[in-house]
Order: sequence, then structure tokens, then C-alpha cells
Amino acid sequence: MPGGTYVITGGFGAIGLALARRIAEVPDTSIVLIGRNLPDGGGAPDGAAGAGRHRPAEELARLRASGAKVLAFACDVADRPLLAEVIGKARAETGRIDGVLHLAGVVDDTRLHLLAPEPAGRVLAPKTGGTLALDELCPDARFLVLFSSVQNLSGAYGHGAYIAANRFLDSYAAAADTAARQVVAINWTLWGEVFGMAAPPAETEAARGAVRGWLATAEGIAALERILVHRPGPQVAVCPDGYEAQLHRAGSRAAAARERAART
Ligand SMILES: NC(=O)c1ccc[n+]([C@@H]2O[C@H](COP(=O)([O-])OP(=O)(O)OC[C@H]3O[C@@H](n4cnc5c(N)ncnc54)[C@H](OP(=O)(O)O)[C@@H]3O)[C@@H](O)[C@H]2O)c1
Repeated sequence: MPGGTYVITGGFGAIGLALARRIAEVPDTSIVLIGRNLPDGGGAPDGAAGAGRHRPAEELARLRASGAKVLAFACDVADRPLLAEVIGKARAETGRIDGVLHLAGVVDDTRLHLLAPEPAGRVLAPKTGGTLALDELCPDARFLVLFSSVQNLSGAYGHGAYIAANRFLDSYAAAADTAARQVVAINWTLWGEVFGMAAPPAETEAARGAVRGWLATAEGIAALERILVHRPGPQVAVCPDGYEAQLHRAGSRAAAARERAART
């Protein structure tokens, strides 16, 4: 919507910046990007994420050069007092918050029986505490979109904490969605062009070889726009080749991971 203000948490991540580029095409919009670390000119803020391809500092500079109003904040979304301060500053600058896209998250590959509470907490906190804080701090937003994963539906070997965190998003959306305010959790399949947290480039290249198991960035953005316009419900899976193919892929990956684990 022209003139609107949109918050993107995980905003310096691979998908966050792709969404920001799209929003920047709408005249007079303001974009509020939130991540724990501001881009510093190097690679992705989170070491493993987007290695090699994702250049948040360059992308942020290009976004600003496009004329969009961009506010960038370093903030852990699970730190409610700090988030309140950040949202307050954004509101003071722009006068409004029209929508929130909640992407902040981390993944941990440790198998569940080896996972200690502290790293599990790091995976859970942005998606649980972050969601609660954002919903409370942005009551005027027309929508809150929670970035969840299709792995919730198929399972994923070694991603227990990540799936628990994303399942929270699915349940939260089901409980919080109202006619006045859209709250939706989207179970995304792999975004295959952005090299975000889902896979290092090599693995993404392999997934590209598979039959439509991944989403092109333009497809993901178009799906998001359709979901915001048509409001199909509080939980929507976006998986171009369907649920059975997703199940098949999850099964093959689990078998390969079990084999690797047995060898170590
Ligand atoms: N990529 C995919 O194919 C895919 C598929 C399904 C679902 N998703 C979901 O989509 C979202 C974005 O994925 P992505 O691939 O863009 O990941 P990404 O490139 O790793 O970006 C995630 C961003 O979240 C930030 N972040 C992590 N913890 C945070 C916290 N506590 N507070 C504030 N920011 C935090 C990270 O930056 P800092 O470390 O600097 O904070 C990072 O830039 C995730 O929630 C993911 O679960 C992605």
C-alpha cells in the first residue's frame, strides 16, 4: 500500500532483503529492517547463512539508493524491552505500522537427543517470544505474517527445535487471526534462489536439479501477495510440487542423514 510502513524482522537475511526490495517498489513506503546485527560490509550477518552469495551491506545500500525510506535496527526480537524501543522509534519516524513480516530465526542441526537447553532456546526464542512481543507491540498492523516451514508438515531429521519453533507459529496464527487483523503462518518450502538459512549453495544447487522442489524468489513473493489479498486461512503451505513430493524429499534426506550419523 503506498505510504505504508512495513516491519521485516530477520530483515538483513536472504528472504528479508528480497521482500524489502519488492516493498521498495511501492511509492512512499517505509521499511523497518530488524536483525541482531547490522550489516557491516561483509557476508551474511549470521556466519553460515547465505555464505558466498548473500551480501546484506551491499543490498541495503542498493535499497537505500533506490529512494526507499529504510530504517535499520540491531535488535534481538526476543528482547521485548529493546524491541519496544525499536518499534517506538520506527513509529516516531513514520507515524504508523501497517504490517509485520516476521522472519527472524535460526536453525540448529543438532539431533534432538543431543540438543542442550541453551541452543534449543536460541532457536525457539525469536519465533516464540519474538512473535508474542511483535503482536503486542504492533496492534495497529493490519497483518502479521509468520515465516514457518513446510518441514513442520513432513518432519526433518535433526531439526527438532526448529520444527517446534515453527509449530508455535502455526498454532499462534490459528489462535490470533481475526477478521480485523490477519495473522498467518506460511509453511514455505525452500526458497531456492536466495541462499538463506535453508541450505548452503551447494545443497541448493542439488535441490534445483530436483523437480520443482524449490521456490523462485518471484514465486515466493507472488504467493505472499496472494495470501495477503485473498486470506485463505491462518496457515498456508507453499510447496509448488505438492505435499507428497515434500514427504518424499524429507524421507530421502532423513535416510541420508541417518546414514551419515551412523558413519560418525
Ligand atoms: N530460506 C528458506 O528456504 C526458508 C524455507 C522455509 C522457511 N524459512 C523461514 O524464513 C525465514 C527467513 O529465512 P532466511 O533463509 O532468509 O534466513 P536467513 O538468511 O538466515 O535470515 C534470518 C535472519 O534472522 C536474523 N535473526 C536470527 N535470530 C534473530 C533474533 N533473535 N532477532 C532478530 N533477528 C534475528 C538473522 O540475523 P542475525 O543473526 O544478525 O540476527 C538473519 O539475518 C526464517 O524464519 C525461516 O525459518 C526459510
